[in-house]
Amino acid sequence: MLLSKLESVLVVALVIHIIGAVYGSSAESDHLALLEFKSKITLDPQGALTSWNDSLPFCQWRGVTCGRRHRRVTVLDLQDLGLVGSLSPYLGNMSFLGNITLDNNNLHGSIPHEIGQLHRLQVLSLPKNLFTGEIPANMSSWPKLSLFNLKDNNLSGKIPNDFSSKSLITVIALSNNDLTGGIPPSIGNLTSLEILALQGCQLGGIIPSSFNQLKTCEK
Ligand SMILES: *[C@@H]1O[C@H](CO)[C@@H](O)[C@H](O)[C@H]1NC(C)=O
Ligand SMILES: *[C@@H]1O[C@H](CO)[C@@H](O)[C@H](O)[C@H]1NC(C)=O
Ligand SMILES: *[C@@H]1O[C@H](CO)[C@@H](O)[C@H](O)[C@H]1NC(C)=O
Ligand SMILES: *[C@@H]1O[C@H](CO)[C@@H](O)[C@H](O)[C@H]1NC(C)=O
Ligand SMILES: *[C@@H]1O[C@H](CO)[C@@H](O)[C@H](O)[C@H]1NC(C)=O
Ligand SMILES: *[C@@H]1O[C@H](CO)[C@@H](O)[C@H](O)[C@H]1NC(C)=O
Repeated sequence: MLLSKLESVLVVALVIHIIGAVYGSSAESDHLALLEFKSKITLDPQGALTSWNDSLPFCQWRGVTCGRRHRRVTVLDLQDLGLVGSLSPYLGNMSFLGNITLDNNNLHGSIPHEIGQLHRLQVLSLPKNLFTGEIPANMSSWPKLSLFNLKDNNLSGKIPNDFSSKSLITVIALSNNDLTGGIPPSIGNLTSLEILALQGCQLGGIIPSSFNQLKTCEK
């Protein structure tokens, strides 16, 4: 027997729901991830996160932007707020997130490698914080990344060497960290790259020969 139109719609909705549940991807997981983000903020001197409460839908919380149709978080923008705390690994569950902009706060600890799961990420902007540890080694899992700014932190270790040659990245800014190990060769393959900001642009290594198309290499 053929399914009626209504039944088909219900089946499709159920399948989408099941897929969402299996991959932990739903508006509810965004809600939970935001609450986890807030719970890791130990000091909020300007009360920036007071709107993050149940009297408002989370899409209206300060610094949060959602997509118009799917009501999933697409932008997290909390700049210059003096926020103290660390970053929750739950951020990696906000699978529609395209833009994380947390410039100029007092966030410390490591950048959770779970954000490597954010395949729609275009902007990761975390300069002027106190992040330590290594840069999450997962550049190839961010096919849409265009801006990668981790300047003015206290990151250590190497720059990841898994930039894909198909990458759309235009800005890599890593100045004023404690990075070692040279510029990875895969950066030389980034044809869209316009700005590479590394302290001294050397890191004790050699500049890969593939670097001829690079427009700016600033300190
Ligand atoms: C919840 O957020 C609203 C909107 O910003 C605010 O007016 C209210 O004071 C907040 N409630 C609490 C308990 O912080
Ligand atoms: C979200 O991420 C956290 C930590 O990375 C994990 O423990 C949790 O089960 C995830 N899933 C959901 C649906 O919140
Ligand atoms: C990312 O968000 C910041 C803050 O809202 C904004 O200034 C910037 O233009 C955004 N970038 C993109 C590519 O959407
Ligand atoms: C890197 O990305 C892959 C694919 O998204 C993911 O399965 C893996 O857990 C990530 N690894 C780290 C260290 O984040
Ligand atoms: C940065 O790291 C260095 C050593 O790696 C340490 O001595 C210094 O205290 C750190 N600074 C901050 C602000 O965490
Ligand atoms: C640069 O790209 C070419 C072509 O995709 C690839 O064969 C080569 O391995 C890449 N080099 C590096 C250092 O990633």
